[in-house]
Amino acid sequence: MKTILVAGGAGYIGSHMVYCLIEKGYDVVVADNLSTGFHDAIHKDARFYKGDTRDRSFLENMFTQESIDAVIHMDAFSIVPESMKDPLKYFDNNLIGVIVLLEEMEKFNIHKIVFSTTAAVYGNPKNIPISEDDEKNPINPYGESKLMMESIMKWVDEAFGIKYVALRYFNAAGAHPSGLIGEAHANETHLIPNIMKVALDPTKEFQIFGDDYGTPDGTNIRDYVHILDLAEAHVLALQYIENGGKSDSFNLGSNQGFSVKEIFDETSNIVGKAIPYKISNRRDGDPDILIADSSKARSVLGWHPDYENVHDIIQTAWNWHSKHPHGYGK
Ligand code: UFG
Repeated sequence: MKTILVAGGAGYIGSHMVYCLIEKGYDVVVADNLSTGFHDAIHKDARFYKGDTRDRSFLENMFTQESIDAVIHMDAFSIVPESMKDPLKYFDNNLIGVIVLLEEMEKFNIHKIVFSTTAAVYGNPKNIPISEDDEKNPINPYGESKLMMESIMKWVDEAFGIKYVALRYFNAAGAHPSGLIGEAHANETHLIPNIMKVALDPTKEFQIFGDDYGTPDGTNIRDYVHILDLAEAHVLALQYIENGGKSDSFNLGSNQGFSVKEIFDETSNIVGKAIPYKISNRRDGDPDILIADSSKARSVLGWHPDYENVHDIIQTAWNWHSKHPHGYGK
């Protein structure tokens, strides 16, 4: 049985990753500083180490106690508007964290890593759908920090032979069908949870951030991909490296775009009631349209998402939010 470290395994994406690995029979170690993650999100069969991947002694202690075969890195900060306000927080956590982690991996002879990166590396793309070789020109510090992480990985592979797969997520959404884990952030900024928060508390009003973008209805278009389909792609990426695949980057998306208004309407249908909303100003750092060409992940990794329908993705999110209106532990 392989032992996999999930750095950031208490977060939204990380916790689903851990459930997916354990359901497939992997032995899982979680490292998380709980700055944005939740203890209650960690699968009971994972071994948890509370600490920060920027902390060398924390990593040394964990790597001495555990025999790790490969690392899945998902402990970066990932909120676009927050990165616009506090870029140094993003460069500090996202870059220093991965540099110290890679140094310690090299020291402990761990030579495989799969890591989360993002559609935000492309900025405002010239081509839709976006393929991996298209121009990368981030328009927010979050995307810039992830592009820098990708470059770091490339040179570390050259120097030390640490093999990597960079998975560029489009918009992660939905929740585990068990209803045990789902999306929870102390300050929620994401579209689908924010619509659902208003559905659960009609004293609030949902805000659409801008309806004057260059899209048919004027609102931003994004490509939504189910969280467990993302997790599945990491398992395939681990197997790909294990089988001698070369270090590479892959888009993970559904190849379909939905506008903010379309997601709002679909969520209202699922929730079964009218949700109050207003049109607000644009939010800084939002590209007009992001839609993936993810054919490379499908052909090279053999990725076949289970959730190809945005209705089903939103339904799993509603199962979670309606049962956990205040997130974990409340
Ligand atoms: N939006 C609203 N109202 C809200 C929240 C969001 O109108 O209350 C809009 C945003 O302006 C944007 C769209 O909904 O146009 C999606 O916004 P999210 O915050 O849900 O997601 P982002 O597209 O900003 O970012 C997400 C991840 C990033 C990742 C990116 C890749 O958070 O980490 O998808 O596409 F880089």
